[in-house]
Amino acid sequence: MRSKSSLLPEIDIDNISDLKDAKDALEKLRSAIRFHNYRYYVLDDPLISDAEYDRLFATLYELEQRYPELVSPDSPTQRVGSDVKSDLAKIEHPIPMVSLKTAYESEGIAAFDRFCREELGIDLVEYTAELKFDGLAVELIYHDHRLALASTRGDGITGEDVTLNLRTLADIPLVLLTPEDDPPPDRLIVRGEVYMEIEDFERMNRMRSKNHESLFANPRNAAAGSVRQLDPKITATRPLRMYVYGVVGVEGREFQTQLEVLQTLQKWGLRVNLEHTQLCRGLEELLAYHRRMDEMRDALPFEIDGVVFKVNSLEYQGRLGMRTRDPRWAIAYKFKPRQATTKLTGITVQVGRTGRLTPVAELEPVTIGGVTVSRASLHNQSEIDRKDIRIGDTVIVERAGDVIPQVVKPVIDLRSGDEKKFEIPMKCPVCDTDVVMSDDKKSSLCPNKSCPAQLRRNIEHFVSRDAMNIEGLGKKRVKQLIDNGLLTSIPSIYDITEADLVEVERFGDESARNLVNEIEASKSRSFDKVIFAIGIPSVGLATSRLLARTFPSMDDLMTASATELELIESIGFEVATNIVSFFADPSVREMIHELKHRGVNMTAEAKGEKSDALKGQTFVFTGTLETMKRSEAQVYVENLGGKATSSVSKKTNYVVAGSGAGTKLDKAKRLGVTILSEEEFLALLRQYGVEI
Ligand code: IVH
Repeated sequence: MRSKSSLLPEIDIDNISDLKDAKDALEKLRSAIRFHNYRYYVLDDPLISDAEYDRLFATLYELEQRYPELVSPDSPTQRVGSDVKSDLAKIEHPIPMVSLKTAYESEGIAAFDRFCREELGIDLVEYTAELKFDGLAVELIYHDHRLALASTRGDGITGEDVTLNLRTLADIPLVLLTPEDDPPPDRLIVRGEVYMEIEDFERMNRMRSKNHESLFANPRNAAAGSVRQLDPKITATRPLRMYVYGVVGVEGREFQTQLEVLQTLQKWGLRVNLEHTQLCRGLEELLAYHRRMDEMRDALPFEIDGVVFKVNSLEYQGRLGMRTRDPRWAIAYKFKPRQATTKLTGITVQVGRTGRLTPVAELEPVTIGGVTVSRASLHNQSEIDRKDIRIGDTVIVERAGDVIPQVVKPVIDLRSGDEKKFEIPMKCPVCDTDVVMSDDKKSSLCPNKSCPAQLRRNIEHFVSRDAMNIEGLGKKRVKQLIDNGLLTSIPSIYDITEADLVEVERFGDESARNLVNEIEASKSRSFDKVIFAIGIPSVGLATSRLLARTFPSMDDLMTASATELELIESIGFEVATNIVSFFADPSVREMIHELKHRGVNMTAEAKGEKSDALKGQTFVFTGTLETMKRSEAQVYVENLGGKATSSVSKKTNYVVAGSGAGTKLDKAKRLGVTILSEEEFLALLRQYGVEI
């Protein structure tokens, strides 16, 4: 049991005056944070709130700032991608990283079980049944409980040193936990899989697509690409996770079974998937486990490509021994691939909200893993050309997890010669305007802002739940109201009256009244929702929130320069340029004007506890703050009645300079504006009762 004080050590930094006290306090904080990391990341069962955790972390950080000589590389604060470049040095594995024999049919498993029984001379063998994670195999070596080396499999004999990269993963403890009754040995070598959750993978690819970066084909490639980076800072931004599944080297600690290995690794702070690990006795139980996991694989947040069976007793494992490339005591039983062949009967073209034309494969319906697929995305012309997909082809279609079905490739051998090549139309299929195609043929755009297809999707987006949340205006209704001329633009939503609606088919008095009330209520949606709703390309909810915190009104946002926008953390060149060119469009300005005229909220209201302690004071933030995002700092200032602006002038009262502050800091010095370090800024906030 941990005591309250070790869970949440109360440390008053200002009372610490010598190195010894600082050391003690640091140890308490680090130990508590490691423990909470373990509860959160490994056990999925945190004991304290996020805010309490953040406070512990901030205290540790602050204390380390005061005593930089006491910062150790395994401190929880050192998990950010370090600057040191690795050219992925080669390392030799202490014990070769072998792979697994694979079976695709139950006969292979029956043969495996028979072999084990005969070799061991027993009637019933006990196995662990585990998931086969679809990621990248890695090895972690701990010396004196500290992560000393992390490497990829490579060719099994020689791998690549990815220590700096993997240090950025929250799932990997930099220091092992040391339970008193069973501390880890001085040397420990474990192996496991680094992977990416499906949702994280899709989110990352969506961002990459918006930023015109190349896309990863699947979560496994994304995980592998992210681990094998030269710059750990890049790995640090990727949503990687890790499960450990075995031990290969351990000195001074005996294990009896594989299950005991897994349970113990978890006690030492490593992340193990015990939830889906089971003991199976005999063939029938193995086959049942495989069936169950195949059925539930879609419900998992990560991809698995099969299951792994291991003889549970380590003594038996030793007796069974190894073949040259794989152990005799384990086998992978893979799932059937999620592919099917079908006929591609046609290609249709969809026009999206931003005018982008997307070719869609129309397929003869086919069942893949229990789901009927009749359409699949073909992405763009370049993709169709690269795969040489033709109308009339027999194609291989793949469905992985919840990802949209993909056409993998045509079966060339089955061509009759009647197949037709496809070219994306040069005129918009909806409004007939000339399409603009990029040179690399990766994007075709209908430039007509009033294209009915775009109008429909723009309105659908504007009224959607995360945007203006106008209930009662579903997709069918939007189409209906556009078709009968009531909706001609986004602002026209606010001109709809009850009298108009009752004339429309399927609208009764009550539904008309409800919808008009809903529309009216949407006028006071918060500023971030409005920014999201107007549909700036590549600006999602999170960016909209940032913009709403940074700019007090739509007018400020509309007139912001790309440089000003780029100063906002996490807004890069592409997004900044998209925002500026969006607002440069006269039809967009007209739309904003019309919305404002109809009473839609166009300003940010400060949230949370407010006071006016900083009334009349103007702050400018520059550089990177360590303890919070710049946007958060701005909200703190605004909540205290102050103003946060983006450029320094004589009227500026304070410039808060984080690391890497540049021209704004120089200007502040020239103008004699008070400059605060991050610590001084935090102290100021605390003085006004803000808890950080
Ligand atoms: S055990 C000696 N267990 O599958 C046994 N491997 O060829 C070594 N994998 O890429 C592997 N999940 O990284 C084991 N629960 C699991 C696994 C697993 C995924 C991967 C492994 C390697 C491949 C085996």
